[in-house]
Amino acid sequence: MEKLLEPTSDPTWVLVAEGYDPLREGIYEARFATSNGFLGVRGGRAVSRGSRWIEPHRTYIAGLFDIPGSEHPIPVLVSAPGWLESRIISTGGPLVHHPAEVASHRTTLDMRRGALFTGCRLIDHPNIAVHVRTMGLVSLNERALGLHVINLEVEYGQVEVTLEASFEGLGLGLLSERLEQDLGVWRTRNSNKRLAMAAALCLQIDGSELAPTMSGPFVWSWHWKTRTGQNVCLSRLVAVARGDSQDEAPDRVAWEKLEGARQLGWRKLVQEHEAAWSERWQRSDFEVQGDSAAELALRFAAYHLNSAVNPADEHVSIGARGLTGDDYHGHVFWDTEIYLLPFYTLTWPEAARGLLMYRFRTIDGARAKAAGMGWRGAMYAWESADTGTEATPERVVCPDGRIVEVLCGRQEQHVTADVAYAVWQYWQATRDEEFLLRAGAEILLETARFWSSRAQPEPDGYCHIRGVIGPDEYHEHIDDNAFTNVMARWNIRRAIDVVGLLRERWPERWASLSSRLALGDTELVQWQTVAETMATGLNPQTGLFEQFAGFFDLEEIDLTAYEGRSVPMDVVLGRERTQKTKVIKQADVVALLGLLPEEFAGDHADANFRYYEPRCGHGSSLSGAMHGLAAARLGYSDLALRYFQQAAAIDLADTHTTIAGGLHMASLGGTWLTAVLGFAGLSLQSDEIAINPKLPAKWRSLGFAIEWRGRRLKFRIDADHDLLQATLESGDSITLLVNGRQHEVRCDQATVCPL
Ligand code: BGC
Repeated sequence: MEKLLEPTSDPTWVLVAEGYDPLREGIYEARFATSNGFLGVRGGRAVSRGSRWIEPHRTYIAGLFDIPGSEHPIPVLVSAPGWLESRIISTGGPLVHHPAEVASHRTTLDMRRGALFTGCRLIDHPNIAVHVRTMGLVSLNERALGLHVINLEVEYGQVEVTLEASFEGLGLGLLSERLEQDLGVWRTRNSNKRLAMAAALCLQIDGSELAPTMSGPFVWSWHWKTRTGQNVCLSRLVAVARGDSQDEAPDRVAWEKLEGARQLGWRKLVQEHEAAWSERWQRSDFEVQGDSAAELALRFAAYHLNSAVNPADEHVSIGARGLTGDDYHGHVFWDTEIYLLPFYTLTWPEAARGLLMYRFRTIDGARAKAAGMGWRGAMYAWESADTGTEATPERVVCPDGRIVEVLCGRQEQHVTADVAYAVWQYWQATRDEEFLLRAGAEILLETARFWSSRAQPEPDGYCHIRGVIGPDEYHEHIDDNAFTNVMARWNIRRAIDVVGLLRERWPERWASLSSRLALGDTELVQWQTVAETMATGLNPQTGLFEQFAGFFDLEEIDLTAYEGRSVPMDVVLGRERTQKTKVIKQADVVALLGLLPEEFAGDHADANFRYYEPRCGHGSSLSGAMHGLAAARLGYSDLALRYFQQAAAIDLADTHTTIAGGLHMASLGGTWLTAVLGFAGLSLQSDEIAINPKLPAKWRSLGFAIEWRGRRLKFRIDADHDLLQATLESGDSITLLVNGRQHEVRCDQATVCPL
């Protein structure tokens, strides 16, 4: 058996599923997905069971959105034809799992190598027994390419066999434009996008190539006679290209990429892919001593976060389920900017930049949305697809079967400030001037302009933002949501900062941008006034923010009385009743605590956490990690660990029912947030990095890497010796603030700081 076809033996790098359980197949397809930010392949199994073709492995192509029709007028991510189908037929019929051998099935996700391995034994007693092993990956080095290898070892048996490999679903969803033996071009029905796929297959028996017969486009078959000890290897390469406009030629691109891969050979392709993964792991791996489950959870999160993004494509962002499933149709939410961007900004700035450029490229959609609703500037879509036009469905079916109107597309507006937040964080962490001047400043200004027109002055002397939905979606059409208003105020203030920065350092750029946006001093004064008079619901005596106007008067519900429930609180109480209570769907004021801790003076942070945490029903997968982050910063390390574990369990334990529809990318990003910004207590100051570690009692150490303004840094918090070790791997020396004390970190030596 070739070494390349064996998964890593180190158990801390792999996830394994033994046996075969059709009921749980969807879970593994999502959890074991392989993706590179352009192609996403669900982790299904490669070989058919008996005469039934297995459910096609879904392959998603980032940015391949279509509008299915007038009855469903919102863009949805469409899947590509399945390119991984295969079956083995011996004389008597398809070669199947013998019932007694089903248990021999093993699927292994190798996170270190970014590849999925399967192994099983097929027997057709007494004629033949074959060990089947497969390896599948989508290249992290050349994102257009997918590879699948099937290796057969004949244990015994001399029979005639046929191996068939084919594409499936050629006519599903997409319109075929050109179909040749090994090249196809398809068109979406309504969005005018094109998809090209080209494939090259090669079968070798004991090292000698056997030519296929092709009975039609994308159907290959090989026929031969087995013998004991025979080794058969089928390699299948696919190259994919997306065309967003008529003048692009995706077929040429796919063909060229395929040719390149063919010349390289699949083994070299695997090596280059693994080198790309090794680079990613250098920059984003974790070490947690004392809690191997936490280490695995963080590695699993980093694996899928590294898989989800394509720094080279500014036309796409990451959907709520990445490229691992259909839920939410591939749409992009605030999840990306708030829960995922910190990971990319601090471990892969090029990727963060690509994601923010997607917001810049869709800013006209945001401008049109603001104008359409009577406001100025740019108001980002709550759900965004390829153009930035609002993509939230107008109605959904509730868990109780009723059809209800979805108001988020019109009312959940905080996403606009969330985008600005991510832009500023990226700027703080990278000082990427080119990005700021080209895109970042304009996003900050146009979003601030939106808020300054959205918040209206009223006779009480305050500016109010009425009729919104905050992160807690159980309460709709509310006024002055603290999260929205404080984030909006912060957005306006950062825009004013950026005006100062441009005026001082890049006056010509300021002159051209302010003239293009028709932004003058009078308007800037108005922004300042709005920021100064924004209603926030803060009670200076108690330090509590009221989540929204009237929240404190709602009915109290003791959530401890509902512990152990298996459905969300809005299902328990019913939608209407929930709206009249203080039950919160997910972190809202607590999210403010997570994002803008400096807005909470003295012990106000603690007061707000203690007030809101017991009232949260965690009806969203985003909730746990944000509570974990806030709790960790406040020093409630055990509670924070419980939240961290809950967030990790969403995709890693078999407790969550919706994982078959795709992984919860925000919750994965959230586990990183809890660990790095929570337990390690990392925060980015204006010119320094600060660290205030508060590890859970059982964590003996936490090691992680970040990038900051061109420097690569590694940290290791050692709880046994109360030390922090900081290593600057590249870049100029910097000052680190550890529990308030300054330390100089230089490139030539590790700095050890007492805690
Ligand atoms: C959450 C939103 C989130 C969306 C996509 C909803 O259930 O309430 O905050 O953006 O899911 O993950």
